Amino acid sequence: MIHPEVLEKLCCTSCGETELTLGSRRRPDLECHGCGTRFPIVEGIPDLVAPDEAPNPGSYRTETLENVIAGVYDFVAPVMSLAFWRCSPLRYVDHENRALGRAQGGVYVEAPIGTGVALAPVVAPHHDALIIGIDKSWNMLFKAQKRLRNISADFQLIRADYHNLPLQTGTVRSLQSLNGLHGFPDREGALSEFNRCLEEEGFFSGSALVRAKTDVADAVVIRYERYGIYPMLRCPEYLLQQIRATYFDDVRFETHGAVMFFTGQKHDQAATAEAG
Ligand SMILES: C[S@@+](CC[C@H](N)C(=O)[O-])C[C@H]1O[C@@H](n2cnc3c(N)ncnc32)[C@H](O)[C@@H]1O
Ligand SMILES: [Zn+2]
Repeated sequence: MIHPEVLEKLCCTSCGETELTLGSRRRPDLECHGCGTRFPIVEGIPDLVAPDEAPNPGSYRTETLENVIAGVYDFVAPVMSLAFWRCSPLRYVDHENRALGRAQGGVYVEAPIGTGVALAPVVAPHHDALIIGIDKSWNMLFKAQKRLRNISADFQLIRADYHNLPLQTGTVRSLQSLNGLHGFPDREGALSEFNRCLEEEGFFSGSALVRAKTDVADAVVIRYERYGIYPMLRCPEYLLQQIRATYFDDVRFETHGAVMFFTGQKHDQAATAEAG
């Protein structure tokens, strides 16, 4: 029901405990041995969003919106990418393929996975990787599950928030975040979470919408913000600074239209400490 290798890499999002086991009740769930929290498993997807006593109403709004968008995402996203962002959708697929290759048989995480539209066309040759897809929207996850149900690689979907990932420290070799960072309310917090989950010298890559590249994109981005949808990014260099500040080295980027693609490597803090 849950990939056994993935189970070994999980941690509790409430207390950080690394021992989570499958519950024995009638309804499937994962039980934390530290704090006793039970995380439900729905259609094979564990819901590892930490139970929150007082959820921020804004997070419901975003989630509702993402669930609605899931229904049209596969049609609307490529059209928007071409018409507004001026970036070929094939670039996401190419970037995905390269990020999967960097996993080299280790753990590959896609956060957010959305409907899995960029992963599906390139996943076949990467059957040696353990692939984990993370998203907070159930509708996005169900779409991804349908699309990816027949892939030959080891694969697990998880419902989680990328500000509090249910993965043990240093377990991921390549982590990809396509088209998400521009909408992260706490971008530095999420970048630190990504960094925490990566192995020493693990790879971080992704894409984000940036301003000041095309007038059409800027006009749309301003409307997004006006309706309170995204805390949108400024220029590429701004995101670059945030990524570098979160202990990533060798960060490179290129922009295609209003989309910035980047790759970086987790700074080997142990080696630096030894050298110093
Ligand atoms: C624009 S989509 C990108 C999906 C995919 N990476 C792609 O390029 O096709 C953004 C995704 O971020 C997810 N998301 C938004 N806030 C999130 C959060 N706090 N934690 C996890 N996922 C989140 C949404 O559900 C949505 O699927
Ligand atoms: Zn716990």
